[in-house]
Amino acid sequence: MRAVVLVGGFGTRLRPLTNSVPKPMLPVGHQPMIARLVERLGGGGVTEVVLALGFRPEPFMEAFPDGRCGDVALTYAVEPEPLDTAGAIRFAAESAGIDDTFVVANGDVMTDLDVAALVAEHRRFGAEATIHLIGVDDPSSFGVVDMADNGSVKAFVEKPAPGEEPSNLINAGTYVFEPSVLARIPDGRVSIERATFPMIADDGGMYGYATDDYWIDAGRPEFYRAANLDLLSGVRRDQGCEAISPLARVHPEAMIRNSVVGDRVDVAAGASVVDSVLLPDARVEAHASVEASLVMGVVRPHAVVRDSMVGATGVVAEHATLECSATPLPEA
Ligand code: GTP
Repeated sequence: MRAVVLVGGFGTRLRPLTNSVPKPMLPVGHQPMIARLVERLGGGGVTEVVLALGFRPEPFMEAFPDGRCGDVALTYAVEPEPLDTAGAIRFAAESAGIDDTFVVANGDVMTDLDVAALVAEHRRFGAEATIHLIGVDDPSSFGVVDMADNGSVKAFVEKPAPGEEPSNLINAGTYVFEPSVLARIPDGRVSIERATFPMIADDGGMYGYATDDYWIDAGRPEFYRAANLDLLSGVRRDQGCEAISPLARVHPEAMIRNSVVGDRVDVAAGASVVDSVLLPDARVEAHASVEASLVMGVVRPHAVVRDSMVGATGVVAEHATLECSATPLPEA
């Protein structure tokens, strides 16, 4: 079975981290998100993944130079301009000549979903499109479904106003499609969530498969951080990671608690790092403190970083405090 994985977005919510690294190439537990996702798809029977690329394709091609990620073959479809989610799926599927049932996944979804079970449900429903659903407490910032008892989706509403959600079941970003879905997508920029799903639901061809698997949309800073820390806490089925990369240098008099410390990171004496992710090549200098933050750049001695992001070119000056902010700040 083949899959299209969407990895061409700008990742604006994770700026400044995504100034230098496209979101799906950011590490979760020392591995690029995309590698974890492709591995999960492979475990569910996917043998070939078409990466739907747009913005900044080169890092993906450099990371997988032989066109393989584990046991899964990778091909690349690079859009000439951003086509939004549905446009990107059609462009990638047509580039790869997909003409059979296929899987689609958002490149920033970390989940323990059994993809083979999703495909089996799709076939059992006889659906045109089947989407993985997750129940959440506040569905208002997601695509929400109104579902019938037989699993068919009566309506699909993207980001409903608070209080107007038809259920608490949200689009979890993994789908199975028949190729007929492609014929529903017109040329140009088209959103799968806003245009295609409501159309298929209206025609009665859309079904939902709700599970209570681990699931996180790692596209927002707090969730990207959680996606990393959840690999330490043991909540993931069969997945975990080392807290500190063997390639990192952590001074014996530094304190690291509930944090992921990436490759080539340097943490100096007296520094403390709590509930945070230090991305590859980050530096936390003597007696600096990093708490609930994502750091790629440099935190100078005695600086404090709290609930913040430091991009690859970001430097927090000696004795400075960065709180609930980011450096460098995204351009207006
Ligand atoms: P934000 O800018 O922070 O909203 O992130 P994003 O650009 O990644 O958008 P979003 O998280 O809503 O996108 C969901 C998935 O679709 C992600 O995996 C994106 O990489 C991908 N995506 C979004 N727009 C496009 C596009 O125009 N082309 C391609 N190929 N992928 C896209």
